[in-house]
Amino acid sequence: MSRYTGRVVMISGAGQGLGRAMAERFAADGAAVAVGDVRGPAAGETAALCGVPLARPSTVDVTDAGQVDRWVADTVDAFGRVDVLVNNAGVLRDNRLEHMTGEEWDTAVDVSLRGAFHCTRAVFALMKAQRYGRVLSLSSVCWRGNFGQANYAAAKAGIVGLARTVALEGAAHGVTSNVISPGIIETPMLAALPRRARERLSRSVPVRRAGHPAEIADAAAFLCDEQAAYITGAVLDVDGGFSVGSALR
Ligand SMILES: NC(=O)c1ccc[n+]([C@@H]2O[C@H](COP(=O)([O-])OP(=O)(O)OC[C@H]3O[C@@H](n4cnc5c(N)ncnc54)[C@H](O)[C@@H]3O)[C@@H](O)[C@H]2O)c1
Repeated sequence: MSRYTGRVVMISGAGQGLGRAMAERFAADGAAVAVGDVRGPAAGETAALCGVPLARPSTVDVTDAGQVDRWVADTVDAFGRVDVLVNNAGVLRDNRLEHMTGEEWDTAVDVSLRGAFHCTRAVFALMKAQRYGRVLSLSSVCWRGNFGQANYAAAKAGIVGLARTVALEGAAHGVTSNVISPGIIETPMLAALPRRARERLSRSVPVRRAGHPAEIADAAAFLCDEQAAYITGAVLDVDGGFSVGSALR
């Protein structure tokens, strides 16, 4: 028996990066994993990498409530329950405020925040009914504010408010809700930045390196464990000390 044997885990945006690392980690620990991504083939690649028949890929755009509801219904049909939801899907649409378009604002906020709302709402009643659930949402160190990321920072701060409210509403029903706030992690999202920006960012981390996706997956496996029942409403920085102390380094 592994730690997650018999558990059913849903992860949005799991076609690459942190979502993929978490899917592989939960699968390795024995879970059935519903791998959702707006890019269906990428979800299929992640499910294949999980290497277990209990990994099920789906094409799902989290900004579309109907698609999310169908994804949850399909997962329940396939596996009978949902124990863990990881709200991971997120996108960057960076721009200085005065140049930021309404579309850039909407896209960043809709994928991260509205998407998390859709997914959490879709699983919440059944988690409460089964008197067990773990909701984990991905924020970012940027939730405290970041130059050129008004949309992303607002969305990721919104994630904290959503998750802490879900923690209160779920607490009496065996449902926890927590947040991981990653720092600079080596994923395709980071790779999309210019090399000099990536190097500068990595140097600014107190531990002097970017994090590995597996280090986020380790934190996720900890917070979503059955034994983490007394941890709810927490925001866990997994950032090599990036958010500690002065911005002057
Ligand atoms: N990588 C980092 O350094 C870092 C740091 C802080 C926070 N985060 C957060 O962690 C999460 C994962 O980041 P990542 O680096 O793995 O990102 P990524 O860009 O590598 O992967 C994001 C995935 O989300 C999917 N996606 C995009 N829009 C979607 C939608 N509408 N519906 C469903 N799926 C959609 C993409 O297809 C992609 O597979 C995000 O919420 C991100 O904001 C990442």
